[in-house]
Amino acid sequence: MKPPKRLQTLIDEGLIDSVSRQLMSGKEAMVFVVQCGDDTRCAKVYKEATHRSFRQAVDYTENRKVKNSRQARAMAKGTKFGRESQEAAWQNAEVDALYRLAGAGVRVPKPYNFHEGVLLMELVTDVDGAAAPRLNDCDFTPEDARRHHATLIREVVRMLAGAGVVHGDLSEFNILLAADGPVIIDLPQAVDAAGNNHAQRMLLRDVDNLRHFFGRFAPELLATQYGAEIWALFERGALTTEVVLTGHFAKKHRAVDLGSVMREIDDARDEDAARRLRMQQG
Ligand SMILES: Nc1ncnc2c1ncn2[C@@H]1O[C@H](COP(=O)(O)OP(=O)(O)OP(=O)(O)O)[C@@H](O)[C@H]1O
Ligand SMILES: [Mg+2]
Repeated sequence: MKPPKRLQTLIDEGLIDSVSRQLMSGKEAMVFVVQCGDDTRCAKVYKEATHRSFRQAVDYTENRKVKNSRQARAMAKGTKFGRESQEAAWQNAEVDALYRLAGAGVRVPKPYNFHEGVLLMELVTDVDGAAAPRLNDCDFTPEDARRHHATLIREVVRMLAGAGVVHGDLSEFNILLAADGPVIIDLPQAVDAAGNNHAQRMLLRDVDNLRHFFGRFAPELLATQYGAEIWALFERGALTTEVVLTGHFAKKHRAVDLGSVMREIDDARDEDAARRLRMQQG
Protein backbone atom coordinates (compact mmCIF):
# COMPACT_ATOMS: atom_id res chain seq x y z
CA MET A 1 0.00 0.00 0.00
CA LYS A 2 1.00 3.62 -0.34
CA PRO A 3 2.62 4.45 2.99
CA PRO A 4 0.72 6.97 5.14
CA LYS A 5 2.57 10.24 5.78
CA ARG A 6 3.46 9.39 9.35
CA LEU A 7 5.25 6.24 8.20
CA GLN A 8 6.99 7.85 5.21
CA THR A 9 9.43 9.49 7.67
CA LEU A 10 10.49 6.07 8.93
CA ILE A 11 10.97 4.85 5.36
CA ASP A 12 13.10 7.92 4.60
CA GLU A 13 15.21 7.19 7.67
CA GLY A 14 15.65 3.56 6.63
CA LEU A 15 13.87 2.18 9.71
CA ILE A 16 11.29 0.37 7.57
CA ASP A 17 11.27 -0.66 3.91
CA SER A 18 7.57 -0.77 3.08
CA VAL A 19 4.08 -0.78 4.53
CA SER A 20 2.08 -3.96 3.80
CA ARG A 21 -1.34 -3.11 5.21
CA GLN A 22 -3.29 -1.47 7.97
CA LEU A 23 -4.20 -3.85 10.76
CA MET A 24 -6.44 -1.77 12.96
CA SER A 25 -7.50 1.72 13.82
CA GLY A 26 -8.03 1.81 17.55
CA LYS A 27 -8.98 4.62 19.88
CA GLU A 28 -5.44 5.87 20.38
CA ALA A 29 -3.51 4.58 17.43
CA MET A 30 -3.42 3.12 13.95
CA VAL A 31 -1.59 -0.15 13.63
CA PHE A 32 0.21 -1.27 10.45
CA VAL A 33 2.05 -4.34 9.25
CA VAL A 34 5.41 -3.23 7.88
CA GLN A 35 8.40 -4.86 6.23
CA CYS A 36 11.92 -4.34 7.63
CA GLY A 37 14.37 -6.30 5.52
CA ASP A 38 13.35 -9.92 5.88
CA ASP A 39 11.29 -9.22 9.00
CA THR A 40 7.59 -8.45 9.18
CA ARG A 41 6.92 -6.03 12.03
CA CYS A 42 4.16 -3.98 13.55
CA ALA A 43 4.07 -0.17 13.57
CA LYS A 44 1.79 1.59 16.06
CA VAL A 45 1.17 5.18 14.97
CA TYR A 46 -0.20 7.24 17.84
CA LYS A 47 -3.00 9.60 16.95
CA GLU A 48 -2.67 13.25 17.80
CA ALA A 49 -4.17 14.02 21.17
CA THR A 50 -6.94 16.09 19.63
CA HIS A 51 -8.00 13.28 17.28
CA ARG A 52 -8.65 10.66 19.84
CA SER A 53 -10.83 10.02 22.79
CA PHE A 54 -8.84 10.67 25.93
CA ARG A 55 -8.80 7.84 28.33
CA GLN A 56 -5.87 9.07 30.40
CA ALA A 57 -7.76 10.22 33.44
CA VAL A 58 -5.83 11.79 36.27
CA ASP A 59 -5.16 8.37 37.79
CA TYR A 60 -3.10 7.25 34.83
CA THR A 61 -0.87 10.28 34.70
CA GLU A 62 -0.44 10.74 38.44
CA ASN A 63 3.18 10.39 39.48
CA ARG A 64 4.36 10.01 35.90
CA LYS A 65 7.78 11.58 35.84
CA VAL A 66 8.25 14.66 33.67
CA LYS A 67 11.66 15.98 32.81
CA ASN A 68 11.52 19.49 34.17
CA SER A 69 9.32 21.97 35.92
CA ARG A 70 8.61 24.05 32.80
CA GLN A 71 7.13 20.91 31.28
CA ALA A 72 5.21 20.13 34.47
CA ARG A 73 3.76 23.67 34.64
CA ALA A 74 2.83 23.61 30.97
CA MET A 75 1.11 20.26 31.39
CA ALA A 76 -0.84 21.54 34.37
CA LYS A 77 -1.90 24.67 32.43
CA GLY A 78 -2.79 22.78 29.28
CA THR A 79 -0.78 24.98 26.90
CA LYS A 80 0.19 23.69 23.45
CA PHE A 81 3.69 22.86 24.71
CA GLY A 82 2.01 21.23 27.68
CA ARG A 83 -0.26 19.10 25.52
CA GLU A 84 2.70 18.02 23.44
CA SER A 85 4.67 17.13 26.56
CA GLN A 86 1.72 15.20 27.92
CA GLU A 87 1.40 13.40 24.61
CA ALA A 88 5.09 12.47 24.59
CA ALA A 89 4.94 11.28 28.20
CA TRP A 90 1.96 9.10 27.29
CA GLN A 91 3.65 7.56 24.27
CA ASN A 92 6.95 7.04 26.07
CA ALA A 93 5.09 5.33 28.89
CA GLU A 94 4.13 2.52 26.53
CA VAL A 95 7.70 2.12 25.29
CA ASP A 96 9.06 2.24 28.88
CA ALA A 97 6.55 -0.35 30.01
CA LEU A 98 7.34 -2.66 27.08
CA TYR A 99 11.05 -2.65 27.91
CA ARG A 100 10.48 -3.05 31.63
CA LEU A 101 8.02 -5.89 31.20
CA ALA A 102 10.13 -7.69 28.60
CA GLY A 103 13.03 -7.39 31.06
CA ALA A 104 10.92 -9.01 33.78
CA GLY A 105 10.09 -11.93 31.48
CA VAL A 106 6.50 -10.90 30.73
CA ARG A 107 5.30 -11.97 27.25
CA VAL A 108 4.82 -8.64 25.46
CA PRO A 109 5.69 -7.71 21.85
CA LYS A 110 9.42 -7.12 21.53
CA PRO A 111 10.00 -3.37 21.03
CA TYR A 112 12.49 -2.38 18.31
CA ASN A 113 12.28 1.37 18.00
CA PHE A 114 10.32 4.47 18.92
CA HIS A 115 10.59 7.32 16.44
CA GLU A 116 8.41 10.37 15.64
CA GLY A 117 5.45 8.99 17.56
CA VAL A 118 5.68 5.55 15.96
CA LEU A 119 6.41 2.41 17.93
CA LEU A 120 8.05 -0.37 15.94
CA MET A 121 7.59 -3.76 17.53
CA GLU A 122 7.28 -7.46 16.94
CA LEU A 123 4.19 -8.51 15.01
CA VAL A 124 2.44 -11.05 17.24
CA THR A 125 1.33 -13.96 15.04
CA ASP A 126 -0.80 -17.09 15.22
CA VAL A 127 0.23 -20.61 14.11
CA ASP A 128 -0.20 -19.65 10.43
CA GLY A 129 1.99 -16.56 10.75
CA ALA A 130 -1.01 -14.21 10.41
CA ALA A 131 -1.57 -11.33 12.87
CA ALA A 132 -2.79 -12.94 16.09
CA PRO A 133 -6.46 -12.55 17.12
CA ARG A 134 -7.57 -10.83 20.31
CA LEU A 135 -8.88 -13.10 23.08
CA ASN A 136 -12.26 -11.50 22.46
CA ASP A 137 -12.29 -13.02 18.96
CA CYS A 138 -11.66 -16.57 20.24
CA ASP A 139 -13.70 -19.37 21.80
CA PHE A 140 -12.24 -21.60 24.48
CA THR A 141 -12.90 -25.02 25.94
CA PRO A 142 -13.21 -24.92 29.75
CA GLU A 143 -9.80 -26.53 29.97
CA ASP A 144 -8.11 -23.96 27.71
CA ALA A 145 -9.90 -21.14 29.53
CA ARG A 146 -8.51 -22.37 32.87
CA ARG A 147 -5.03 -22.76 31.40
CA HIS A 148 -4.90 -19.30 29.80
CA HIS A 149 -6.42 -17.72 32.90
CA ALA A 150 -3.72 -19.31 35.06
CA THR A 151 -1.01 -18.16 32.63
CA LEU A 152 -2.30 -14.59 32.65
CA ILE A 153 -2.59 -14.48 36.45
CA ARG A 154 1.09 -15.45 36.56
CA GLU A 155 1.83 -12.66 34.07
CA VAL A 156 0.01 -10.13 36.27
CA VAL A 157 2.12 -11.31 39.22
CA ARG A 158 5.28 -11.07 37.13
CA MET A 159 4.39 -7.52 36.07
CA LEU A 160 3.82 -6.46 39.68
CA ALA A 161 6.48 -8.47 41.52
CA GLY A 162 9.09 -8.36 38.75
CA ALA A 163 8.63 -4.86 37.31
CA GLY A 164 6.40 -3.00 39.81
CA VAL A 165 3.91 -2.32 37.01
CA VAL A 166 0.11 -2.52 36.82
CA HIS A 167 -1.25 -2.70 33.25
CA GLY A 168 -4.36 -0.65 33.97
CA ASP A 169 -6.36 -1.63 30.88
CA LEU A 170 -5.97 -5.40 30.79
CA SER A 171 -8.90 -7.15 29.14
CA GLU A 172 -9.80 -9.58 26.34
CA PHE A 173 -9.32 -6.66 23.92
CA ASN A 174 -5.69 -6.04 24.89
CA ILE A 175 -4.44 -9.62 24.94
CA LEU A 176 -3.57 -11.43 21.72
CA LEU A 177 -3.55 -15.19 21.32
CA ALA A 178 -0.24 -16.00 19.67
CA ALA A 179 1.05 -19.38 18.54
CA ASP A 180 2.90 -19.67 21.87
CA GLY A 181 0.05 -18.43 24.10
CA PRO A 182 -1.37 -15.10 25.30
CA VAL A 183 0.58 -11.87 24.67
CA ILE A 184 -0.25 -8.67 26.55
CA ILE A 185 -0.37 -5.45 24.49
CA ASP A 186 -1.48 -1.80 24.69
CA LEU A 187 0.40 -0.32 27.63
CA PRO A 188 0.40 3.51 27.47
CA GLN A 189 -1.61 3.70 30.69
CA ALA A 190 0.56 1.27 32.68
CA VAL A 191 1.47 2.68 36.10
CA ASP A 192 4.16 2.27 38.72
CA ALA A 193 2.47 0.40 41.54
CA ALA A 194 4.66 1.96 44.20
CA GLY A 195 3.84 5.63 43.62
CA ASN A 196 0.24 5.54 42.45
CA ASN A 197 -2.77 5.75 44.74
CA HIS A 198 -4.98 4.11 42.14
CA ALA A 199 -2.74 1.11 41.50
CA GLN A 200 -4.75 -1.17 43.78
CA ARG A 201 -8.04 -0.32 42.09
CA MET A 202 -6.48 -0.76 38.66
CA LEU A 203 -4.95 -4.13 39.53
CA LEU A 204 -8.24 -5.40 40.96
CA ARG A 205 -10.05 -4.29 37.79
CA ASP A 206 -7.46 -5.94 35.50
CA VAL A 207 -7.75 -9.26 37.35
CA ASP A 208 -11.52 -8.97 37.45
CA ASN A 209 -11.65 -8.53 33.67
CA LEU A 210 -9.71 -11.79 33.27
CA ARG A 211 -12.03 -13.55 35.74
CA HIS A 212 -15.18 -12.41 33.92
CA PHE A 213 -13.89 -13.19 30.46
CA PHE A 214 -12.58 -16.70 31.16
CA GLY A 215 -15.50 -17.30 33.54
CA ARG A 216 -17.75 -17.36 30.46
CA PHE A 217 -16.03 -20.58 29.39
CA ALA A 218 -15.15 -22.01 32.82
CA PRO A 219 -17.75 -20.67 35.30
CA GLU A 220 -15.91 -21.94 38.38
CA LEU A 221 -13.36 -19.16 37.77
CA LEU A 222 -16.05 -16.63 38.70
CA ALA A 223 -15.65 -17.60 42.37
CA THR A 224 -11.92 -16.87 42.50
CA GLN A 225 -10.35 -13.85 44.22
CA TYR A 226 -6.87 -13.64 42.78
CA GLY A 227 -6.83 -9.85 42.64
CA ALA A 228 -7.38 -9.34 46.37
CA GLU A 229 -4.93 -12.14 47.15
CA ILE A 230 -2.21 -10.66 44.91
CA TRP A 231 -2.62 -7.15 46.28
CA ALA A 232 -2.55 -8.30 49.92
CA LEU A 233 0.75 -10.14 49.29
CA PHE A 234 2.17 -7.15 47.40
CA GLU A 235 1.31 -4.76 50.25
CA ARG A 236 3.04 -7.04 52.77
CA GLY A 237 6.13 -7.20 50.55
CA ALA A 238 5.50 -10.94 50.15
CA LEU A 239 4.67 -11.08 46.43
CA THR A 240 7.33 -12.94 44.45
CA THR A 241 7.16 -14.25 40.91
CA GLU A 242 7.24 -17.80 42.32
CA VAL A 243 4.49 -17.28 44.90
CA VAL A 244 1.84 -20.04 44.96
CA LEU A 245 -1.65 -18.52 44.85
CA THR A 246 -4.86 -20.13 46.03
CA GLY A 247 -7.46 -17.90 44.37
CA HIS A 248 -9.05 -17.38 47.78
CA PHE A 249 -8.81 -14.47 50.07
CA ALA A 250 -10.06 -14.17 53.62
CA LYS A 251 -10.42 -10.63 54.87
CA LYS A 252 -8.73 -10.49 58.24
CA HIS A 253 -10.49 -8.52 60.93
CA ARG A 254 -7.91 -6.38 62.55
CA ALA A 255 -7.74 -6.80 66.34
CA VAL A 256 -9.24 -3.74 67.97
CA ASP A 257 -6.80 -1.66 69.97
CA LEU A 258 -9.01 -1.26 73.02
CA GLY A 259 -6.59 1.05 74.80
CA SER A 260 -6.69 3.68 72.03
CA VAL A 261 -10.50 3.50 71.80
CA MET A 262 -10.75 4.14 75.58
CA ARG A 263 -8.32 7.07 75.29
CA GLU A 264 -10.41 8.62 72.53
CA ILE A 265 -13.59 8.28 74.59
CA ASP A 266 -11.83 9.87 77.57
CA ASP A 267 -10.55 12.74 75.39
CA ALA A 268 -14.03 13.36 73.99
CA ARG A 269 -15.51 13.35 77.50
CA ASP A 270 -12.87 15.82 78.74
CA GLU A 271 -13.47 18.10 75.77
CA ASP A 272 -17.20 18.02 76.35
CA ALA A 273 -16.75 18.81 80.04
CA ALA A 274 -14.50 21.77 79.17
CA ARG A 275 -17.06 23.05 76.64
CA ARG A 276 -19.90 22.87 79.22
CA LEU A 277 -17.74 24.69 81.74
CA ARG A 278 -17.01 27.47 79.22
CA MET A 279 -20.71 27.79 78.43
CA GLN A 280 -21.64 28.03 82.14
CA GLN A 281 -19.00 30.66 82.70
CA GLY A 282 -19.85 32.61 79.55
N1 LIG B 1 2.36 -6.18 18.24
C1 LIG B 1 1.19 -6.47 17.65
N2 LIG B 1 1.07 -7.59 16.89
C2 LIG B 1 -0.11 -7.88 16.28
N3 LIG B 1 -1.22 -7.11 16.36
C3 LIG B 1 -1.16 -5.99 17.10
C4 LIG B 1 0.03 -5.61 17.78
N4 LIG B 1 -0.21 -4.44 18.42
C5 LIG B 1 -1.48 -4.12 18.16
N5 LIG B 1 -2.08 -5.03 17.37
C6 LIG B 1 -3.47 -4.99 16.86
O1 LIG B 1 -3.91 -3.65 16.82
C7 LIG B 1 -4.99 -3.45 17.73
C8 LIG B 1 -4.87 -2.08 18.39
O2 LIG B 1 -3.69 -2.04 19.16
P1 LIG B 1 -3.66 -1.35 20.61
O3 LIG B 1 -4.65 -1.99 21.48
O4 LIG B 1 -2.25 -1.33 21.06
O5 LIG B 1 -4.07 0.14 20.20
P2 LIG B 1 -5.27 1.06 20.70
O6 LIG B 1 -5.27 2.28 19.90
O7 LIG B 1 -5.17 1.20 22.17
O8 LIG B 1 -6.50 0.23 20.32
P3 LIG B 1 -7.86 0.07 21.12
O9 LIG B 1 -8.42 1.41 21.29
O10 LIG B 1 -8.64 -0.82 20.21
O11 LIG B 1 -7.50 -0.59 22.40
C9 LIG B 1 -4.96 -4.63 18.68
O12 LIG B 1 -6.22 -4.97 19.15
C10 LIG B 1 -4.38 -5.74 17.82
O13 LIG B 1 -5.39 -6.37 17.06
MG1 LIG C 1 -6.13 -1.70 22.76
